[in-house]
Amino acid sequence: MSELADVKTAARTVWALGDYDAMMRAEGLYDLGAQLAHQLTITPGERVVDVACGTGNAAIPAARAGGRVTGVDLTPEMLAVARQRAEAAGVTVDWVEGDAESLPLRDAEADVVLSTFGCMFAPRHEVVAEEIARVLAPGGRIGLCVWAPDGVFGEFFRIVAGYLPPDPEFVDPPLAWGDEHRVRELFEGTGITPVFERASWRIIHPSVEAAIACYTDNLGPVTKARELTTANGSWPGLHADLAALFHRHAEDDGRVVLPATYLVITGRRA
Ligand SMILES: C[S@@+](CC[C@H](N)C(=O)[O-])C[C@H]1O[C@@H](n2cnc3c(N)ncnc32)[C@H](O)[C@@H]1O
Repeated sequence: MSELADVKTAARTVWALGDYDAMMRAEGLYDLGAQLAHQLTITPGERVVDVACGTGNAAIPAARAGGRVTGVDLTPEMLAVARQRAEAAGVTVDWVEGDAESLPLRDAEADVVLSTFGCMFAPRHEVVAEEIARVLAPGGRIGLCVWAPDGVFGEFFRIVAGYLPPDPEFVDPPLAWGDEHRVRELFEGTGITPVFERASWRIIHPSVEAAIACYTDNLGPVTKARELTTANGSWPGLHADLAALFHRHAEDDGRVVLPATYLVITGRRA
């Protein structure tokens, strides 16, 4: 198998760990998919694709707005939960196991491309941006949410990555999607001129230990990091660094209140 295929296989395994949906519900993050779908003013019958859709954060509200939605994700376990959520919401979405670097859509098939904290995790950002542009019809819109590198999740992901073996050179760091200059470069020549807006979501955990448990138990890559660092003896260091981060956001009553800053990237294809 090629190194690229190995990276994808590893990603699929890692994102299947933990209980992602439990974390999303605890943090209220499903509201952000609904906000994005609302912001893009999806109208009935529009063709929408949610790239790296996970459990359907953007796809389900887009379908609720009347969009004809395809949700694409690498991880079947995520799609299984997405299916259940869509059924509970009474909406139809075409859930497809697929890769953001090779979207299972024809050229110019989509009126709207959405991704909430998804496309940033595919390894080759130029390829993903090209794919987004390829499937988008002229006049079509994009709406992408990505964690801000200078926000609390930027810091969080840098701490975790510091305890893991480096990725192969061709893997772009997920937080690069939060760099406006880089995103302008990614869409150069595609006909899409990105527009940026910063937003913040308040995430509340009952305590520092509860915050650490929420991510290590539920967020696949962090669950994996705990497993690897436990095996190599560096878990106490990772735990201490995460605790220090969360203590900085602790209130007098012990609750951790995280100002989760993210970037909303919108744009229209010429
Ligand atoms: C942080 S989750 C975001 C999921 C969802 N969009 C949301 O807002 O909750 C990242 C998702 O990216 C998916 N993913 C990672 N690499 C991918 C790739 N190359 N192609 C498609 N999906 C990918 C994972 O399976 C996971 O569901």
